[in-house]
Amino acid sequence: MERTPKKLLITGASGFLGWNVCLRGRAAWEVFGVFHDHGVAMDGVTILRGDLTNYAQATDLFLRVKPDAVFHLAAASGPNFCQMHPEVTRRINVDAAVHLAGLASDCRIPFVFTSTDLVFDGEAAPYTEEDPVSPVSVYGEQKARAETAILGRHPDAVICRMSLTFGKASPASESFLQPVVRALEGGREVRLFTDEYRTPLSARDAAQGLFLALEKSGSGVIHLGGRERISRFDFGEVVTRVLGRGRESLKGCRRLDIPMAAPRPRDVSLDSSRAFGLGFDPGQLREELEHVLAQ
Ligand SMILES: NC(=O)c1ccc[n+]([C@@H]2O[C@H](COP(=O)([O-])OP(=O)(O)OC[C@H]3O[C@@H](n4cnc5c(N)ncnc54)[C@H](OP(=O)(O)O)[C@@H]3O)[C@@H](O)[C@H]2O)c1
Repeated sequence: MERTPKKLLITGASGFLGWNVCLRGRAAWEVFGVFHDHGVAMDGVTILRGDLTNYAQATDLFLRVKPDAVFHLAAASGPNFCQMHPEVTRRINVDAAVHLAGLASDCRIPFVFTSTDLVFDGEAAPYTEEDPVSPVSVYGEQKARAETAILGRHPDAVICRMSLTFGKASPASESFLQPVVRALEGGREVRLFTDEYRTPLSARDAAQGLFLALEKSGSGVIHLGGRERISRFDFGEVVTRVLGRGRESLKGCRRLDIPMAAPRPRDVSLDSSRAFGLGFDPGQLREELEHVLAQ
């Protein structure tokens, strides 16, 4: 007899990462994806609208779906926007996350939250799950506060700290890769930092890591980063090679050269050994870029 798939609620389904997680999840789960401002459609996924900062709407949505597990990805994900609008963004990045975690806790179902490498100040990389958080931006602070408050409300929750992620765009949101590719293909100059390091991850690997974390990691924090520590500029060089283009359009610059609202940490590379030990297996950057750019 065929088993009925379990119900998975994925918030942020219209977003870059949520879209990619829905794509992966729909094979094994009955997926309910939540958007707010940007209506999207995906075969095999039930799409629902809701403002998660409105507790009544969030609760109603949760009770209508009656999920068996929740992936909470919805967020104000732009550090500069969060820096300029700390109050508005706190409502989605902290308050809504804790509210949803509470609903999941009351129903005794798993809750997976996407946090960020930007909870660290970038002065002592690579970071393990045991390192204390030290955010330098409002976005990083909000995510760090959400992590603690979620675990306080739902001690079995899983906090996945994601590295900078690139991949296939959703119909409503792209990763940092797409503007770089457009500029290179249009022959325009691309300025990338030579003094900012991350452990970038493709969205398909991020999705693999999130499902693995749900199934195997147990409660608490887990780091999901790529295997290679690389600067933004060197990442751009790999992109030019994959596109078969010269690197003339790439211009290296330093973080201080481009004033931005949110302070940028120097090196928030993640040590993801714990996840690797559980079977998290992100591909090499070049291969992942070839896969994304072939689409
Ligand atoms: N992308 C990365 O490199 C990266 C790295 C580290 C961590 N993360 C984390 O991963 C998660 C996903 O990031 P992303 O890059 O996919 O973000 P994104 O593309 O900006 O998507 C954000 C999502 O949140 C939804 N949302 C925002 N406010 C909402 C509200 N009030 N009610 C309901 N939904 C709301 C948006 O819905 P609408 O667009 O429909 O309004 C959208 O689906 C976030 O938690 C982010 O902090 C991302």
